[in-house]
Amino acid sequence: MAAQAPQEGSKGGETSPDAVDAYDVELCAWRSNVGVPRARFKPGQMSVESTALIVDAESIRKTYRNGSTEIVAVEAASLCLKAGEFVALTGPSGCGKSTLLNMLACVEVPTAGVLRIAGRATGSLGDDELTSLRRTAIGYVFQFFNLMPMLTVRENVALPLLLSGWARRRIRPAVAAALQAVGLRDQAEQRPATLSGGQQQRAAIARAIIHSPKLVLADEPTGNLDTRTGTDVLTLLRRMQRDRDLTVLMATHNADAAHAADRIIRMRDGKIEAH
Ligand SMILES: Nc1ncnc2c1ncn2[C@@H]1O[C@H](COP(=O)(O)OP(=O)(O)O)[C@@H](O)[C@H]1O
Ligand SMILES: [Mg+2]
Repeated sequence: MAAQAPQEGSKGGETSPDAVDAYDVELCAWRSNVGVPRARFKPGQMSVESTALIVDAESIRKTYRNGSTEIVAVEAASLCLKAGEFVALTGPSGCGKSTLLNMLACVEVPTAGVLRIAGRATGSLGDDELTSLRRTAIGYVFQFFNLMPMLTVRENVALPLLLSGWARRRIRPAVAAALQAVGLRDQAEQRPATLSGGQQQRAAIARAIIHSPKLVLADEPTGNLDTRTGTDVLTLLRRMQRDRDLTVLMATHNADAAHAADRIIRMRDGKIEAH
């Protein structure tokens, strides 16, 4: 499954790493109370190895073909992220940040190179195993939140657990705790459209961390928020990262956000600059 290219400047144009239509199908089943289609793999079937290196990318490359033209979105990027790091990814628009995040999210398959996420070489995994890896090990936060509009905040946050086949009796307390942690307990039954931008991003952060992923990828998470709200969201992300010992890679244009990170990886023209 390939994610659509994020269109710079197009509001709401970015795509969820788990295909939205897959969300739709599974959620419609849930909401209409006919039961959730179980994923073809069993929860826990995929062992995510305990490793100090959460991301280990060796010369990963991504090219797209537009007619006869080849577009090199990411050219031979190598990077490692250690467990518990909070790293900023900066660079001008179009330099390949979102494409790199999408490859680390196992949404886009690298055209070349070797990518290991939580010790698993993704090139050797089949579709089901990649889906399982995404659902267990990875959380994603988007610039435009990407919450499901017809679901309540509680249902949006429950989604990753539901898709992973958790029992409902385990989902309820986990969601309540996550909503409490992001300060949205009182908004649980509201739909996203009734929330402020900052509240929507808090809900999206709760959704991204609910399944205790190893790796959280955040693509311009403060890019659609005013400065103060953006700072609050960044503080929350940082707190969740520390409290839950997450590894975070955050693409950002915001210099303050980048400097709040443990270190900065800079990209230009599809390449990672020396760091
Ligand atoms: N699905 C796609 N098809 C064709 N070109 C793409 C696609 N996704 C990204 N690109 C191109 O790859 C380059 C990097 O894009 P992107 O990763 O979105 O950069 P950034 O997030 O840094 O703005 C751009 O030239 C963009 O137009
Ligand atoms: Mg981008």
